[in-house]
Amino acid sequence: MAEALAGLTPWPEDGSRADGPVAVDATDRLLLDEARPLLAGARPGDVVVLGDRFGALTLGALALGAPDVRVHTDAVTAEAAVRHHVDLAGESARVAVHAGLGPDVVRGARVVLLQLPSALAELQEVAEQVARAAADDVVLLAGGRVKHMTRAMNDVLAAELGEVRATLARQKSRVLVASGVRPERRDAPPAFPTTATLADPALRAAAGTAGVAVAAHGGTFAGAALDHGTRFLLSTADRWPADVADAVDLGCGTGLVAAVLALRSPGARVVATDRSAAAVASARATARANGVADRVVVVRDDAGEGLADASADLVVLNPPFHDRAAVRTDAAHRMFATAGRVLRPGGELWTVFNTPLRYRAALARAVGPTEHVAQEPRFTVTRSVRG
Ligand SMILES: C[S@@+](CC[C@H](N)C(=O)[O-])C[C@H]1O[C@@H](n2cnc3c(N)ncnc32)[C@H](O)[C@@H]1O
Repeated sequence: MAEALAGLTPWPEDGSRADGPVAVDATDRLLLDEARPLLAGARPGDVVVLGDRFGALTLGALALGAPDVRVHTDAVTAEAAVRHHVDLAGESARVAVHAGLGPDVVRGARVVLLQLPSALAELQEVAEQVARAAADDVVLLAGGRVKHMTRAMNDVLAAELGEVRATLARQKSRVLVASGVRPERRDAPPAFPTTATLADPALRAAAGTAGVAVAAHGGTFAGAALDHGTRFLLSTADRWPADVADAVDLGCGTGLVAAVLALRSPGARVVATDRSAAAVASARATARANGVADRVVVVRDDAGEGLADASADLVVLNPPFHDRAAVRTDAAHRMFATAGRVLRPGGELWTVFNTPLRYRAALARAVGPTEHVAQEPRFTVTRSVRG
């Protein structure tokens, strides 16, 4: 196994990597050690890896005897890193990468290795998928850093799966092991995506409708609710350019803003983009629920890199400022650069951010003249005009 993990690097090296500076962490190693006997006896189709960051779990599982591995990882950036390392190791024929977290990923699985997500709802959705589609005797091994683990994680797993136990901690990581599925959960109706119709006044005014429907898969920012920053951004919508032809919701999450853009401008085509598989699945469901799916195209990519140059009149952005536990602003800066590239001359970027981040100068450099439109102690909304 050591040989298989030795070639891993925190790829790519351009600072855009999603998951920190360590390609193989103590949790990866502990998960693989705990799963070692199961992997040694695995048959084709038995092994699934969820939430791998750079490929350590995938390549480690193959090295320990798994004949093949199905992989799903939420962020397209992590997925690219996993693909890169799998290709480099010459293992692509034995690895199937799934872009979405559907039943196909876990159907019939007997060993599931999981890097614990930070959101309980994301863990719940994984557990639910496993309970519905994996083999009766599946063993799910979910590892994380002890400081990020809570008792509620055991409860979420226990609600869907059989007996749950925790391993001893090693190098500040621990693994929860859930064995077997609960028969009564096999046919339980799926809890995800959760849905709601939101009637917040700022949202209604921005959309020009009595309410806006939202759908949220487990790993999605804010869930089926309206985030405070998003609400503050929407409270300025009466000053966004009207009657635009092409609009972009950059880092769309559930796609609430994309739905608002489509509802308020019936002639507009909207692109909603996010790196997260849960987000794009949610944004598609949100667009359908609001009857605007014919005008909202949802794309999973990194910081909107696939959007065409000079293709938009309006970009609306609520950028990320967290990646796992760390405050990270590099994705936000890459999104500003994308906005500068995809806006047509005279097009506008509307951004909300945490006031202490002081993004105004960076926005002016990346896009063009930038003014503070609204400010409160927590959030600032800016308008940048493409020169
Ligand atoms: C603060 S949330 C905003 C979500 C949504 N627009 C809203 O206002 O509710 C930021 C979003 O950016 C996404 N994101 C983070 N890093 C990204 C990247 N490198 N490329 C694309 N999207 C990213 C996250 O998945 C998340 O959905």
